[in-house]
Amino acid sequence: MRFDAKGEGEAEISIVIASGFRGMGVGAAVLKQAQKLAATLGYKRLFARVKVENIPSRRAFEKAGFQLIDQDHVACLYEAELTGVCPAG
Ligand SMILES: CC(C)(COP(=O)(O)OP(=O)(O)OC[C@H]1O[C@@H](n2cnc3c(N)ncnc32)[C@H](O)[C@@H]1OP(=O)(O)O)[C@@H](O)C(=O)NCCC(=O)NCCS
Repeated sequence: MRFDAKGEGEAEISIVIASGFRGMGVGAAVLKQAQKLAATLGYKRLFARVKVENIPSRRAFEKAGFQLIDQDHVACLYEAELTGVCPAG
C-alpha cells in the first residue's frame, strides 16, 4: 500500500496484495486501516483510480467505504473524505 501526495492534504492510494492472500478480505481491511494512517499523516482526502474491469479492486475500495465519484469507460475514481476518521495509534 502506498500514498502518493498530490494536492494540499490529498494523496492517491494504491494497493497490491500478494497473490496467495487475495480474496480473503485483506485488501478491504488494509484500505480501512489506510484511512486511519492517512488521517494520522495529516491527509484530508484519499483518492484512487481503478480500472473499470478490476472488479476485486473496486469491491475492496467499496467495502472499505470509498465513494465512487467519477467513471469513464477506462477507470473509476474513488475517494474517501478523512474528516472524522480517527487517526491510527
Ligand atoms: C485489488 C486487491 C488489492 C484486492 O485485495 P483482496 O484482498 O483480494 O480484496 P478483498 O478480499 O478484501 O475483497 C475483494 C472483493 O472482490 C471480490 N473478488 C475477488 N476476486 C474477484 C473476482 N475475480 N471477480 C469478482 N470479484 C472478486 C471478493 O469476493 C471481494 O468482494 P466481496 O467481499 O463482496 O465478496 C488485490 O486483488 C490485488 O492486489 N490485486 C492486484 C493489484 C491491483 O489490482 N491493485 C489495485 C489497483 S489500485
